Amino acid sequence: MAIILGIESSCDESAAALIGSDRTILAHRLAGQEDAHRPYGGVVPEIAARAHVQTLTPLIEAALNDAGMSLGDVDAIAATAGPGLIGGVMVGLVTAKALAMAAGKPLIAVNHLEGHALSPRLADAALEFPYMLLLVSGGHCQILRVDGVGQYRRLATTIDDAAGEAFDKTAKILGLGYPGGPRVEALAKTGDPKAVPLPRPLLGSAEPHFSFAGLKSAVLRAAQSGMHRPEDIAAAFQQAVVDCLVDRLEKALSQSSSSPSPFVPSPSTPPVGVAQDKLQPLAEVEGRDRNGCDGSLDTLGTNGGGVPSKPKTLVVAGGVAANGAIRSALEALAARHDMGFVAPPLWLCTDNAAMIGWAGAERFALGLTDPLDMPARPRWPL
Ligand code: KG4
Ligand code: ZN
Repeated sequence: MAIILGIESSCDESAAALIGSDRTILAHRLAGQEDAHRPYGGVVPEIAARAHVQTLTPLIEAALNDAGMSLGDVDAIAATAGPGLIGGVMVGLVTAKALAMAAGKPLIAVNHLEGHALSPRLADAALEFPYMLLLVSGGHCQILRVDGVGQYRRLATTIDDAAGEAFDKTAKILGLGYPGGPRVEALAKTGDPKAVPLPRPLLGSAEPHFSFAGLKSAVLRAAQSGMHRPEDIAAAFQQAVVDCLVDRLEKALSQSSSSPSPFVPSPSTPPVGVAQDKLQPLAEVEGRDRNGCDGSLDTLGTNGGGVPSKPKTLVVAGGVAANGAIRSALEALAARHDMGFVAPPLWLCTDNAAMIGWAGAERFALGLTDPLDMPARPRWPL
């Protein structure tokens, strides 16, 4: 069994974990920074980076102690190398490089999104490639077909805000504070989702992309009108997000089962107002270049004849996947499509180091390690 030290520092959680390639979580330590950011109503990048400098190394030491291990027992050191807040990413990556150099261990530079994308396989040994993944976090909202380690086909992305961002902004508008997602969910439980009419951007549109900026503005108008109870706004907002996620996934699934060449990458000409990098065609996906994978579906996820097999499982990952209403709606959607449904345990949905250690273990098993001059990247499409 290989043992991987995983390090996460891309946003406001410092975390260190020791993960076995047999899926054993030997240790996991996490330090949130909520108190430091709360006065500002959101994550302040420099405060986050400074906090990682203080907390990360003691966390790694504590994780090693918890597992009764020293650095010498570890087979490789995996750290988030992006995307994320660059100061924090640099702290984690440089820490990993220093440890790798000092202990003579290989470095694995993990894409944070790959950490989320593979995290369900840490929790569920039976989850096999290929699977359909809804990756919903504070910075991303994507539908991906996961064909293997380093083999991701992005079928949809957001043309403006991420779903988690919309939760956080709604929380701010409603005066719920930070972090927003869990607070909106808690308040929504006591509200009536039908009491406030809110839009469902892009519902029914031909491409399965997402948009949440208009919904956020509508929440602001509803709150400013003074006509609605906050709990009703929260419930209506959450229901609108659920409806959008389900509709867009329905579209992606129907496209994947109706077209002879089903898994069409994002359009080469983005809709008006869409940042180019948010709709990057598959051919430019950087992770594949680095892995030496060509994205061919012939290597994984086929029935042996080169025909891509239809994903049998719907998987949700990322911080927003912690939301109960979203999980239930997706489970029902999977059942309608005769698919299995996998959602990692709540602690594994939000940022953590176990998923980075696990992505490291998956890469290590394929011999994918990285040189010590690996850059830290604020943007890094999966
Ligand atoms: O994956 P994550 O921990 O960090 C990023 O990589 O972005 O996701 C954080 C996001 C935040 O926007 C947070 O508000 C949202 O996940 N979130 C939730 C819930 N828990 C966390 N959103 C809705 N409902 C929740 N229960
Ligand atoms: Zn994340």
